Amino acid sequence: MQLAHVKELEKKYLLGTYARYEVLIDRGSGAYLIDKSNKRYLDLLAGIGVNSLGYNHPRIKQVLRKQIKKPLHISNLMYHEYQGRLAEKLCEISGLDRAFFTNSGTESVEGCLKFARAYAKPKFRILSLDQSFHGRTFGALSATGQKEYRDPFEPLVPGFEFIGFNDVEDLQKKFTDDVCAIMIETIQGEGGIRPISEQFYRRARELATEKGALLIVDEIQCGLGRTGHWFAFHQFASPTDKTMLPDIVASAKPLGLGIPLGAILLREKVAAAIQVGQHGTTFGGGPLACRASLEYFKILEEGNLLERVRIVGCYFKKRLEELKDLPVVKEVRGEGLMLAVELKVPGKEIVKQLLAQGFILNCTHETVLRMLPPFIITEKQIDKFILALKQVLEAQRV
Ligand SMILES: Cc1ncc(COP(=O)(O)O)c(C=O)c1O
Repeated sequence: MQLAHVKELEKKYLLGTYARYEVLIDRGSGAYLIDKSNKRYLDLLAGIGVNSLGYNHPRIKQVLRKQIKKPLHISNLMYHEYQGRLAEKLCEISGLDRAFFTNSGTESVEGCLKFARAYAKPKFRILSLDQSFHGRTFGALSATGQKEYRDPFEPLVPGFEFIGFNDVEDLQKKFTDDVCAIMIETIQGEGGIRPISEQFYRRARELATEKGALLIVDEIQCGLGRTGHWFAFHQFASPTDKTMLPDIVASAKPLGLGIPLGAILLREKVAAAIQVGQHGTTFGGGPLACRASLEYFKILEEGNLLERVRIVGCYFKKRLEELKDLPVVKEVRGEGLMLAVELKVPGKEIVKQLLAQGFILNCTHETVLRMLPPFIITEKQIDKFILALKQVLEAQRV
């Protein structure tokens, strides 16, 4: 099937919610996606942060092949051997105490909001940040601090209020005694790769503790190794630092490496507020996804890939910073392999031009080029991209 035919079918039969790239993907290998005409694209977006090990990883394929001989689905009415093991791993690396498995980031956020309200009842006010993105269902959307996502679907869930990004004064003013929880992304993703300041994180943690409220951290995009730490909040709180750790963490994206899987991690005091039957899901925590996920953690550990992310991330950022002298570049931001170049002009056309040259990235917030490459990306591949990016940016008029 050719791209033109696929487009025709989608145009006729699909709900038109996605502005797709002009490319029909056939297969992938390592850091590359390959289209139907055998053109190779260096994937600097990794399926929006999902394909952290790139494509066609032999070990992931091998465990899936083994698991596929067994039931693909086992309901949550029964035990299988992988959920408990994966929960143990997630607790060990995060410093939290328990896990609940979901199917997506949004579903993780929904659970976080329910668990926080159950814990803090009758308090229900939830604070989140301007420019945040937490998902598109009613709860997650109600916590999302971007008018354009929210407006068409008003009225949303009551009880949500927004704080200026990294605005500690605003935080202190709005964090009244009736607040149930505050939710933050350690690094805002859709919002344009904006890291939360240590001062803001610490004050949010302190206020939550003081007022009997909860700190929820959304690590769906920035967690699970992307910044070179297991979780991005570990730069403020080690897994053993119980006073600074969040109370609830939302996770997803690379957790199942493309097999849908998300997780909510909880401290024991929050878990104690949730009773049997109060929350659930048909598919969450299925054996195929959990097994892929366990192998993901093994591969990261055995290959020392977190250190690799820190090293190659530093290199990538340094190379991007060399472009700061170009008139069109406003700022370079990010940690590990979660990086952005903010431009003084819209970035959509630039993304298109780079796609034509065989590089996949995206533009968020009109002017922010976002890069979330797989952890296996090499310095040589980065150099190739920088060369192309530089040429495209040099041709821009401000
Ligand atoms: C920080 C954050 N939260 C929540 C979500 C929603 O996740 P999903 O698309 O898996 O539902 C995303 C997705 O991009 C995200 O980046």
